[in-house]
Amino acid sequence: MNLGGFSYENGELFVEALSVSKIADAVPTPFYCYSASSIRNAYNLLRQKLASSRTSICFAVKANSNISVLRLLSELGSGMDIVSGGELERALAAGVEPSKIVFSGVGKTRAEISRALEVGIHQINVESPAELDAISDTARSLGRRAPIVFRVNPDVDARTHAKISTGKKGDKFGIAIDEIPGLYAKAVTSPELDVAGLAVHIGSQLLDLAPYRAAYERLASLTTKLRSHGHQVRRLDLGGGLGISYHFGAGPDLTEYAKIIEETFADLNCELTVEPGRWLVGPAGILVSEVLYVKNTGNMATAIVDAAMNDLMRPSLYGAVHPVLPARNVNKDASSAYQLVGPVCETSDVFGTYDALPELRSGDRVAFGCAGAYGASMASTYNSRDLVAEVLIDGDHFRIIRRRQTIGDLLALEAATPWQALRSCSDAKTAM
Ligand code: LLP
Repeated sequence: MNLGGFSYENGELFVEALSVSKIADAVPTPFYCYSASSIRNAYNLLRQKLASSRTSICFAVKANSNISVLRLLSELGSGMDIVSGGELERALAAGVEPSKIVFSGVGKTRAEISRALEVGIHQINVESPAELDAISDTARSLGRRAPIVFRVNPDVDARTHAKISTGKKGDKFGIAIDEIPGLYAKAVTSPELDVAGLAVHIGSQLLDLAPYRAAYERLASLTTKLRSHGHQVRRLDLGGGLGISYHFGAGPDLTEYAKIIEETFADLNCELTVEPGRWLVGPAGILVSEVLYVKNTGNMATAIVDAAMNDLMRPSLYGAVHPVLPARNVNKDASSAYQLVGPVCETSDVFGTYDALPELRSGDRVAFGCAGAYGASMASTYNSRDLVAEVLIDGDHFRIIRRRQTIGDLLALEAATPWQALRSCSDAKTAM
């Protein structure tokens, strides 16, 4: 079993050169912990596979938006794919050149478009005719030229979880293929628009590569068609979506993925970009948690841990199962079955049922694996639980890259209303 940057030595779980137990002695659980080498290795492997098609990489910031993670990837040469003004500010704060940032997303506000144009963003992916108008207006009023590509909805089934499929007719993303030629022809006549090409993104957690081939072939034939109408199509954004194995098995075949890109686009002579998120950072992160209590629910032993659905939403939102790695596991033949649940007051706050665990007791630590993508970035403060700390490990270096939020941070956002301050509760009720 290949655990990436994680390994067991004498029954102790290590992240690179540091033991999870030691880290947890210094950082209160729950916390996210990332392996820098895993991210580096993943990026370098993907870059190497894509080298012959000269495809560049823009990391999808939504997968893990901690600025230290963004800086790590940026220093390796990665650009960024963002979907909000907040992600733009994060990428800039991480030192990413605006000329390496691509702005995707189905509903960009005028304020976001304006900021993106002001900083000199590389590309805005247009998702609807109405958004095209907003981009034109904003560019005109700023006296700037907006570099755009059109996001195509290729009507291809990505064969992934329904909640993360984005390229089928009826999904809210992109523009139907037949609408593109008309829009393209209109856009190229607008001096405030620099129409660079096309984009596609059919979904996330793709384990089957056939849908990529189908979508890319549609993109390639649309490119040829637009060129036959006399248009320039110099840039193609091929989206993200590469899946990972959530049980430390082999993921999709990267060589095959690179081959599909090469075979489909070799003759078109376009600048090519991909936007992976999960594949680069998913396996590189764990969520470390402590067992609070163990109890019996029906005939199932249930361990209540201090991490919950607000820290890692994927199990309750998609039924995803993250592998559990005990921080200390001296018993190689461990075979106890537990349901692992969080303390949040929702029946869906369940991580899953695991049947090969050592016996768990209060105070034991467990890590949920493959949590580097869509873990911390999707966390919420539901039940007034703090956003947890994030830690980055690089060899034997250890750094808290986000401190844990405090209830003080949360309460500071709220303001008492003057009338509540002046009246008692019963006065307020009478006033209603
Ligand atoms: N590009 C665009 C336009 C996207 O919408 C996404 C993801 C990506 C790239 C990166 O996709 P990736 O390579 O990470 O699959 N919260 C879900 C995943 C949502 C993905 C949304 N879009 C999850 O936890 O599985």
